[in-house]
Parts: sequence; C-alpha cells; structure tokens
Amino acid sequence: MTAPAVAPDSSPHIAVRALSRRYVQAEAAQNVLVGASFSLARGEIVALLGRSGSGKSTLLNLLSGIDLPDAGTVTIDGIELGALDERQRTLFRRKHIGFIYQSFNLVPSLTAVENIALVLELNGVGVADSLLQAQAALESAGLGSKTHQLPSRLSGGEQQRVAILRALVHQPALVLADEPTGSLDAVSGGQMLSLLRDSLHAAGSTALLVTHSLRVAQSADRVLTLENGIVTERSGDFAW
Ligand SMILES: Nc1ncnc2c1ncn2[C@@H]1O[C@H](COP(=O)(O)OP(=O)(O)OP(=O)(O)O)[C@@H](O)[C@H]1O
Ligand SMILES: [Mg+2]
Repeated sequence: MTAPAVAPDSSPHIAVRALSRRYVQAEAAQNVLVGASFSLARGEIVALLGRSGSGKSTLLNLLSGIDLPDAGTVTIDGIELGALDERQRTLFRRKHIGFIYQSFNLVPSLTAVENIALVLELNGVGVADSLLQAQAALESAGLGSKTHQLPSRLSGGEQQRVAILRALVHQPALVLADEPTGSLDAVSGGQMLSLLRDSLHAAGSTALLVTHSLRVAQSADRVLTLENGIVTERSGDFAW
C-alpha cells in the first residue's frame, strides 16, 4: 500500500479543529487540550509558544498522527489523519511530515549520515543516492566531518542539527519542530534557523515550530500561543 497522495491545491493546507486530549493516570485526569483549533496555509512558517507543560509536544504528536485526539480532527490537504488506519498514518507521516523531536530521537546504532539517509530509503530512494544526499545535507550544515559518527559521539547541538537535517531531507509538505534550536548556542542557533528557513522555502514546506526562542518567534510568519488547552493567534510584542 502506498501513502495517500497529497492534493496540491486544496485549502486550507492544515486544518486543526477542536482538538481535545486528556491523559488519565492513577485515576487522575488531566485535560491538556480542550478544543484547540487553527489553520496553516501552505508554505507558512508559524511559531507556537506556550509555557512548559502547556501541551505543545502533545499537540505536535497529534498533528503528526503519532497520537490520536480524544475529540477533534487534524486534516492535511483534505486527508483526515483520524480516518486512516495505523499503517496508513505511518506511511503518510513518513512521506509528508518531517518531525524534529524535542529529544532528537536519532537511531543510536546508525551514524549521522545513515540516520539522515534512512528517511530517503524508507521513501524509496536507493541506498547509494540516499547516502550521497545525506552527505550533502551534512556538509551544507558544516557537519561534513561528523558524517560517520554515531549519535553518542556527537554533542547535543550536533545531534540536534542532524535531527533537523533528517526532518528536511525528503522535502516534506509539513515540518513539525519541537524546540529546534533549544540545544544550540546563539551562533549555531542562528545558522540552523537560516538553514531551516532556506530549506523550508526551497521545498515550499509548511512548518510549525514550537519554541521558547524570541529569535525563532520573530522570524516566523505568524505566532500562535497555546494556553489553557486552546490555541490563540498572537500579535504585537513578544515580551514575556
Ligand atoms: N504520555 C503522557 N501521560 C501522561 N501525562 C502526559 C503524557 N504526556 C504529557 N503529559 C502531561 O501533559 C502535559 C503537557 O505535556 P507536553 O509534553 O505536551 O508539554 P509541553 O508544552 O511540550 O512542555 P515543555 O515545554 O516542557 O516541553 C504535562 O502536564 C505532562 O505531564
Ligand atoms: Mg515539549
């Protein structure tokens, strides 16, 4: 079975409607999302702000179909994720979504270049081509000398950069990033932000970037805030 095709011109590109997600633990329930709704237009780079524990990672997991909501829908180019079975969701995610995890999630037994190439291979690109493209991606980010290092031999910032490259290499329609510059110093963070923006624009990708960084928020086309389980549009100053 192939991943469902994404129609090129449907609108809105990403529609999130009345998403609710609660966690129940030891008979105590926590309502993390209570009807979050928003839309993303194709090619938009949108920042998502919110305090620690407000549900940002929870929301990204629902947008990628890794997790399913208790109520509400996520629709990407007319395809509602909740209507796909688990295998279809996996294939859809693999092809159309790039996810930069808060904790990187690199495969520990694969080198930097293999971690990136794997995404291409899973999407049907030959092994040799995948490795060449992955190598080029590493070089574009100044990580050419780290090509054959395992993640355990990379610094946190280097792992984060590899994770960013891995999320972008197959030019997905939607990039979801959980604090993509959180482990980087100001200079590396600025460089990766530029690389991220250039890659997103070149691929025409839409992106939702969870961030605590003023710089990331200021560079976004729009800023959304997650507070008390709902998403609101934020405008004006970014002081907090
Ligand atoms: N799998 C889970 N089981 C139970 N509770 C969870 C689970 N995942 C998250 N939570 C709870 O849901 C709330 C939101 O968590 P989430 O990780 O989405 O927050 P966040 O906004 O990403 O925070 P941070 O900025 O610290 O990364 C937290 O109170 C957390 O304890
Ligand atoms: Mg989080």
